Amino acid sequence: MERKQLMKEFKERFNYEGERVFFSPGRINLIGEHTDYNGGKVFPCAITMGTYGVVKARKDNKVHAYSGNFPEVDTIVFNIQDLAFKKEDNWTNYVKGMMKYIQEQVGELPHGFDLYVYGTIPNGASLSSSASLELLTGVIVHDLYNLDISRLDLVKLGMRTENEFLGLNSGILDQFAVGMAVKGYAMLLDTNTLSYEQVPVDLPHHKIVIMNSMTRRELVDSEYNTRREQCEAALEQLQEVVDVSSLGELTEETFEKYKHVIKDDVLMRRARHAVYESARTDRAAEALKAGELDLFGKYMNESHISLDEDYEVTIEATDLLARSAWKEPGVIGARMTGGGFGGCCIAIVENDEVKSFVENVGSGFNEKIGHEAEFYIAETADGAKEWVDNE
Ligand code: GLA
Repeated sequence: MERKQLMKEFKERFNYEGERVFFSPGRINLIGEHTDYNGGKVFPCAITMGTYGVVKARKDNKVHAYSGNFPEVDTIVFNIQDLAFKKEDNWTNYVKGMMKYIQEQVGELPHGFDLYVYGTIPNGASLSSSASLELLTGVIVHDLYNLDISRLDLVKLGMRTENEFLGLNSGILDQFAVGMAVKGYAMLLDTNTLSYEQVPVDLPHHKIVIMNSMTRRELVDSEYNTRREQCEAALEQLQEVVDVSSLGELTEETFEKYKHVIKDDVLMRRARHAVYESARTDRAAEALKAGELDLFGKYMNESHISLDEDYEVTIEATDLLARSAWKEPGVIGARMTGGGFGGCCIAIVENDEVKSFVENVGSGFNEKIGHEAEFYIAETADGAKEWVDNE
């Protein structure tokens, strides 16, 4: 995306020049899925697909917001003193939620702004377009008003926007990845303590290919919230025999020893996924650090199987993408990424094989599912920040 183009779009919309440009990335999670609300490990990195924002301060208390992705929605106007969720405010509810919680923390902001937004992350693709917009807002507001609010606090306010403003009981994975990322690295994050380590993603001979199933099942949010409730119910039963406050604190051995106290098989499988996936994430990060890429790929595949069989958040389209990727030459590993119920998978593929990989997986997918999948090469990115002119 060109800066000049973004400035032009701003001017066309608001009839004067925009002032500052910001970029907030999307994310892929390399491994560690549905562990973040279970106190387990995650291992995401930010990607160069993301959300751009051009902004200029206003004198009054209004925000005028326009998205180049939703021209039919037109410009949405709201007052910074009236930040209630309104369905008709569409995508700007993410902006409103962030601004509401930021003001709760730092007091009322002195004025509003005009905002032009353009995103390159496909919606509903499980690449965190919503966290990207939340952190874009967070960084814009932080920088525009010179606020004294830490990056980690902005990340937490992003999660709060999701949980309280939008009603999705998600964990901190997406906002953390989008807010804290460093280009060239993935973060091994302990969601229990929020301690984390930046691990280099140094793959000179491979590409990370994102495979978009272009499918999203309905009722994703309620399915997601149900998974979380099931994990909480399993934890409660385990707590009668072991002293832990989250599933992420359990080793696989302890889980095997006590799993019989979980009376329901579905709950047992949900908890088993959370415990094993967290342990697997630790091991996978170790493997990557040691340059043992094949081992990393094996963990990716195991993660996918667990998400398919125990956690049941794959659908035919994503399961097909991962499993057909496994059969292609030069593939180190492949798995679904993000919340599931559609969206994207990722695969690590040898450079020379990428072209035939895309052709083969793509044509098999089209034949079976009846529409085209999309493929993108993932490049890592920094967390949300201002795009200064000389970059
Ligand atoms: C979604 C949620 C995250 C996380 C993932 C699954 O992306 O927003 O908090 O739970 O699903 O790992």
